[in-house]
Amino acid sequence: MASRIAIIILFHVFLSLNSHPAKAQAWIKAGYWYYYNGFPVSNINSTLYTHLICAAADLNSSSYQLSIPSSYDRVFSAFTNTVKRKNPSITTLLSIGGWDTKYSTLSAMAGNSTYRKSFIDDSIKTARLYGFQGLDFSWLSVSTGDKMDMDNMGTLFEEWRAAMALETRNSSLSELILTAAVQLSLTLDSGSLPIDSIRRNLNWIHVLAYDYYVPEGFKFTAASAALYALDDSDVSTDSGIAAWINGGLPASKLVLGLPFFGYAWKLANPNENSIGAPATGPAVTEAGDMSYKEINNYSKTQGAVGPIYNSSYVVNYVIVGSDWISFDGVDVVRIKVSYAKEKGLLGYVVWEVSYDDNWVLSQAG
Ligand SMILES: *[C@@H]1O[C@H](CO)[C@@H](O)[C@H](O)[C@H]1NC(C)=O
Ligand SMILES: *[C@@H]1O[C@H](CO)[C@@H](O)[C@H](O)[C@H]1NC(C)=O
Ligand SMILES: *[C@@H]1O[C@H](CO)[C@@H](O)[C@H](O)[C@H]1NC(C)=O
Ligand SMILES: *[C@@H]1O[C@H](CO)[C@@H](O)[C@H](O)[C@H]1NC(C)=O
Ligand SMILES: *[C@@H]1O[C@H](CO)[C@@H](O)[C@H](O)[C@H]1NC(C)=O
Ligand SMILES: *[C@@H]1O[C@H](CO)[C@@H](O)[C@H](O)[C@H]1NC(C)=O
Repeated sequence: MASRIAIIILFHVFLSLNSHPAKAQAWIKAGYWYYYNGFPVSNINSTLYTHLICAAADLNSSSYQLSIPSSYDRVFSAFTNTVKRKNPSITTLLSIGGWDTKYSTLSAMAGNSTYRKSFIDDSIKTARLYGFQGLDFSWLSVSTGDKMDMDNMGTLFEEWRAAMALETRNSSLSELILTAAVQLSLTLDSGSLPIDSIRRNLNWIHVLAYDYYVPEGFKFTAASAALYALDDSDVSTDSGIAAWINGGLPASKLVLGLPFFGYAWKLANPNENSIGAPATGPAVTEAGDMSYKEINNYSKTQGAVGPIYNSSYVVNYVIVGSDWISFDGVDVVRIKVSYAKEKGLLGYVVWEVSYDDNWVLSQAG
């Protein structure tokens, strides 16, 4: 009898371990697809990914329910079935927020338990209705210095995970995955981001490890997503990842963001063209941002010098007259993916899948 009870207890422990969000997860190769870029979902080579994230649902500022871009409703609802055609074992997530969602809406939602409940309940309902297996929360406008927002975010994750667990308690469905996208930060401690709540309630986080330097804000050429820095005062992916781990988040909860884009600067003097050279602002596009595909085309059609590889920062750049463009090419992606494996991270996530050129970067991962 006693042994039978023990077996039953063990069986239940096994079941609860099995459904726990912390269960071992295989290496993640994730990619964001952003509706705004207009790339057909059916053209994504989903065999190159384990997870695809559909970006993004907005928030209604009075009901705090999800709001899907109206002309894309059918695309979002067909997303999972479309990408499963080429890769039946792919997992899909719906991203909520991003740069399109107002700070004030997210802050108000996170700060009020009634609004949090509307948001959480509707997010779960929407995920199921549209066929997504998880949700990715992307509050990029939040400041890690705002203690109130940080505490509220921690509470949101707590309640969200509890609601997801409750939702599957009596059903045959798998519990939804819950992740968040966060910007790289060098100053993380338990008082800034809700690391403890993240660790307990999220399956993992997507660390958006890029945009350290952009042409609109910095009048010198730079590696915007440098893996390493030349000195400690400089921003790098390596120091940001170390900050998360030192802050108390296990490496196995971190998924490294890789940019499939770069930035073009206008050189102040075409003869001074190394990293850190004086620049006057963005080149080629309004903000200087260019997809990998555009950079390749621009380089080819304009007869660029390069790509030059700088192993101190781990970055590529090309020079076209007085245009200076830094980006992550195939070698850089390979090195960053190896880095993520060496550090025991959970995988990588790219922004954005349609920026790739004939899938060469996706294949390099
Ligand atoms: C998609 O990726 C697979 C796996 O790497 C590759 O064999 C195939 O050629 C790719 N398809 C296209 C259309 O690029
Ligand atoms: C937001 O929700 C309110 C209340 O449900 C609704 O009346 C309004 O039309 C929604 N706004 C948008 C932009 O969907
Ligand atoms: C949350 O919002 C509701 C509805 O607007 C309001 O009645 C309530 O006072 C708010 N709670 C807090 C803590 O602000
Ligand atoms: C789950 O099922 C039990 C027993 O049928 C029921 O009492 C409980 O309310 C259900 N819970 C949910 C969340 O539906
Ligand atoms: C990378 O660029 C910096 C800045 O120009 C330079 O100091 C450094 O020597 C370069 N690294 C390599 C390996 O060439
Ligand atoms: C390639 O670049 C040239 C100019 O450098 C531009 O005119 C053309 O539209 C670009 N093509 C694509 C497919 O981006």
